[in-house]
Amino acid sequence: MMIKARKLFKDVSDLPTIPVIVSRVIRLLDNHQSNPDEIADLILSDQVLAARVIRVVNSPLYTAGSKITSVKRALLFLGFRSVREMILTSYFVDGFKRHEQPFDMNVFWMHSFSVGSMSRRIAEMVGYDDTEMAYLVGIIHDLGKVFLGHYFKEEYGEMLSTINYTRSTTYNAEMEHFGTTHCELGLCLAQRWNFPPVYCDVISHHHTSELAIEDPLLTAIVRLADFFCLTYTISDSVAQAAKPDRSEEYAWNLLKQRSRNPLPGSLGEFFFMLNDEYVGVFHEVNLLFNTMTTA
Ligand SMILES: [Fe+2]
Ligand SMILES: [Fe+2]
Repeated sequence: MMIKARKLFKDVSDLPTIPVIVSRVIRLLDNHQSNPDEIADLILSDQVLAARVIRVVNSPLYTAGSKITSVKRALLFLGFRSVREMILTSYFVDGFKRHEQPFDMNVFWMHSFSVGSMSRRIAEMVGYDDTEMAYLVGIIHDLGKVFLGHYFKEEYGEMLSTINYTRSTTYNAEMEHFGTTHCELGLCLAQRWNFPPVYCDVISHHHTSELAIEDPLLTAIVRLADFFCLTYTISDSVAQAAKPDRSEEYAWNLLKQRSRNPLPGSLGEFFFMLNDEYVGVFHEVNLLFNTMTTA
């Protein structure tokens, strides 16, 4: 399967890239020891990037007391991790938004942002340390679908229309039609963009959480957030789920074993709990959607 993914990936030549300067900023932000002045200077050398940071830090997504006008203050206010996450997400949105897709991009983004927010919420519920990472990797988990939609527009569009209103999942249909999945193609893309190994692993195994290597708990969190959003929130054939299967059962058992806080007895009850959480998440998702798609 992975051979097929690598082959499809190798055949495309015009992959969207993250500008070199942005990759350098991301690498600096990755290191907690980096100097904020050095990062601010680098961000300021790219006016588009600087404007984006200022715009997002002043958006309703973050509630700064007063207007923040300097990049360095934005860095100190948001923290390196959040700025890094915001930059990566906005370039990901940007890289693909001009390209036409055979599916509704608004549905895709709402799904992606919902999974990001829900992953963060589940991470908080189980006491997982890095809730911000859960959030970011949740947002980008399905990036392979954008790749398929862009480079195999007709074929992917046809495949999606055949599974509309059926019980087949997007994942299984991809396997049948392409001999590979958005998980493997997402992995190729994430590796090309030098995402950290743990992000690559979650992208690669978010439908097969039992195979996760780097951080199985994080993969389980994203698996359940994804499944919840596919089942209980807006979805169409680009994001279609069936009944809880091996991967969801595995993720749920791992969550129960590793949670630092008590969880309900069954996956059904857990999803019931998440339903209440989603009221708050939905508001967050709308803010994120408006900020990211216009920044
Ligand atoms: Fe997926
Ligand atoms: Fe998904």
